[in-house]
Amino acid sequence: MSQASFDPQAFRAALGTFTTGVTIITTRGDDDTPIGVTANSFNSVSLNPPLVLWSLAKSANSLPAFETGRHWNVHVLSADQQALAASFAAQGTDKFGGLELEPGISPAPLLPHCTARFQCRTAFRYDGGDHVIFVGEVLAYDRSALPPLVYQAGQYAIAARKARQEVRLGATPPPECSYTEDLLGYLLGRAHYQMLFALRQLLASHALDEPAFFILSTLSVRDRLTRDGLNAIIGYTGFEVTARQLETLEGQGYIAREIDGGVARYVLTADGREASLRQIAHAKAVEQDLADVLGAGDIMVLKLLLKRLITTTDPGLPDIWAADDGASPATA
Ligand SMILES: Cc1cc2nc3c(=O)[nH]c(=O)nc-3n(C[C@H](O)[C@H](O)[C@H](O)COP(=O)(O)O)c2cc1C
Repeated sequence: MSQASFDPQAFRAALGTFTTGVTIITTRGDDDTPIGVTANSFNSVSLNPPLVLWSLAKSANSLPAFETGRHWNVHVLSADQQALAASFAAQGTDKFGGLELEPGISPAPLLPHCTARFQCRTAFRYDGGDHVIFVGEVLAYDRSALPPLVYQAGQYAIAARKARQEVRLGATPPPECSYTEDLLGYLLGRAHYQMLFALRQLLASHALDEPAFFILSTLSVRDRLTRDGLNAIIGYTGFEVTARQLETLEGQGYIAREIDGGVARYVLTADGREASLRQIAHAKAVEQDLADVLGAGDIMVLKLLLKRLITTTDPGLPDIWAADDGASPATA
């Protein structure tokens, strides 16, 4: 066979453009040791008979076990199993330490919390250059609703589904219109207001407005903040916490003032905590409704991108989850 003189790195990078899922494939050694390896070479072969394949490097420590063991299990990893993928891609470590295993149809280890699992018996084995190709007959399989982990260009990723048809929000704007339905600011703003519409109604029913919501939710995470401390944290909203607003919330019985060394610090009262819990429960319900429509995977992608956007555009706000200004973490 003629050998093309490929640059190995460029060849690997070109192959890496083919986006795959990530699997862990397990078997048991002759001495009953559990064996496993991370592999993205997994693929389907045949529906009838049910066959799958994957390839293992001839240099892998686990090769002898897969060559002698007749049974192996393919675990299609879920988006939350990235650490497991990294652990099974390492050599010379105790890959199964602390892992719960489930009973399967063969002695091969069966891992929980995956997107799908295929319990296989070796049907064929082929030489594949520096790899050995294993073709397995699928004896049993199962799947869950967990979104899968993805591997793309050497990085773990999660996949967002493309809509079957282009998502349209309104009529096509005339070409000279500079404000379009595709402008990120417009999309973020509209999504924000649409999502928070019901929350604003809930607030109004308790004679609260948006700044009050920001104050209560901040104090539910971080108690004993001064007015300056509150302003530093919620300044990104464009609202300023005024002394008058704090007095109103005190008058409504939602917050109380503590004087500490001549400085006023604010805490939630029992009523304030209850109102805040109700708002959080509402926000969680809105998120669940959205997840029911979009699916857990798309919600995960949406959150990931929003977190990256927030980090990228952060003007240097104090970290509410780790503030150290005399305030203390709120207790439930
Ligand atoms: C995402 C990912 C996919 C991988 N896919 C394969 C594969 O398909 N075949 C393979 O031989 N190695 C693959 N590897 C590398 C092995 O997981 C790695 O070499 C491992 O250390 C082998 O373990 P072992 O030497 O204990 O058998 C992959 C690694 C990663 C991170």
